[in-house]
Amino acid sequence: MEKILQLIKKAENTNDLTKEEIIEILQDSENNQELFDAADRIRKKYMGDEVHLRGLIEFSNICKRNCMYCGLRAENKNVKRYRLMPDEIIELAKKGAEYGYKTFVLQSGEDEFYTVEKMKYIISNIKKMDVAVTISIGEKTYEEYKAYKEAGADRYLIRIETTDRALYEAMDPNMSHENRKRCLEDLKKLGYEVGSGCLVGLPNQTIESLAEDILFFKEIGADMIGIGPFIPNEDTPLKNEAGGEFYLSLKVMALTRLLLKDINIPATTAMETLNNNGRIIALQSGANVVMPNITEGEYRKLYALYPGKICVNDTPSHCRSCITGKITTIGRTIGKNKGFRNRELENQLRVKN
Ligand code: SAM
Ligand code: SF4
Ligand code: FES
Repeated sequence: MEKILQLIKKAENTNDLTKEEIIEILQDSENNQELFDAADRIRKKYMGDEVHLRGLIEFSNICKRNCMYCGLRAENKNVKRYRLMPDEIIELAKKGAEYGYKTFVLQSGEDEFYTVEKMKYIISNIKKMDVAVTISIGEKTYEEYKAYKEAGADRYLIRIETTDRALYEAMDPNMSHENRKRCLEDLKKLGYEVGSGCLVGLPNQTIESLAEDILFFKEIGADMIGIGPFIPNEDTPLKNEAGGEFYLSLKVMALTRLLLKDINIPATTAMETLNNNGRIIALQSGANVVMPNITEGEYRKLYALYPGKICVNDTPSHCRSCITGKITTIGRTIGKNKGFRNRELENQLRVKN
């Protein structure tokens, strides 16, 4: 017990832990609150009290991949498919900008309808609104990533899902771990703010591999890390699996904050699906970003990665005021700028200390 507290203190003071030390903390369950409080202090010290809201646009649920855990997988015949036209996506962003969003996250399945030309059109038009644009549309070539960047994209999200290669390749048939890593490297080379992350609670995932995930995030110099529990979906081959636990996911997230002190960490929607105060608990355990859904109408329901997804019957304006209320209740403020990774703040603190 004493040892775990010392390890948490070490992480808070040095932002460094060995794999074995991370495993010890993950295996312990008696000092969770101390871990969350330490991550919260590091978040406050390096990122401040602002919570950045990113407006999430889920623009197509059509996907050519077959990830075992995901309800959008190509082989799932039980989901009604949709795709929004480029001008509809731009229109959603326009409305989002009116609600006050300064960043949009454009996310979809791997849908080949959206050619490079179409993506460039969407990105460049949204960029005219003086906002940051994040893309999350899966594995593409270097040239494609380059074209999106030149059209104005600022950030890209692509989770490694797990650093356990064998598990990855079992979970993501016909996808290679090498290519996933190549994507992350290319994005970094191209000057994107790079977001990655993992699923917690995949079948046969070990605590050791979760520790490796955290060290991997540090090694690749990630700018954002999203961590969420795996939630089994009835319409997938993993429907009878146990799924991830809320507190284990939160611990992986808190440790990520302790080791990567100045990155952006979202309180993920999947966290709230498992605990109805999940995003607020995450914001008090190291997270500093929330990604409210600004997709409209039935599309919110049809982007069905997993069951129990929150906000499917709500409107973008309701979510905006709902989450703003929750954030202010815990004494935090809504970020007023685009919420890039805060290197300047880090430098100022370094000079002061
Ligand atoms: N298609 C792109 C990709 O895979 O990178 C972006 C969209 S994909 C739906 C976004 C994330 O959803 C994935 O990286 C995965 O971690 C998460 N996800 C998919 N199925 C899930 C499930 N059953 N439970 C929790 N998260 C899930
Ligand atoms: Fe497609 Fe992404 Fe779902 Fe995999 S996780 S099936 S790539 S939407
Ligand atoms: Fe959507 Fe609260 S954030 S209802």
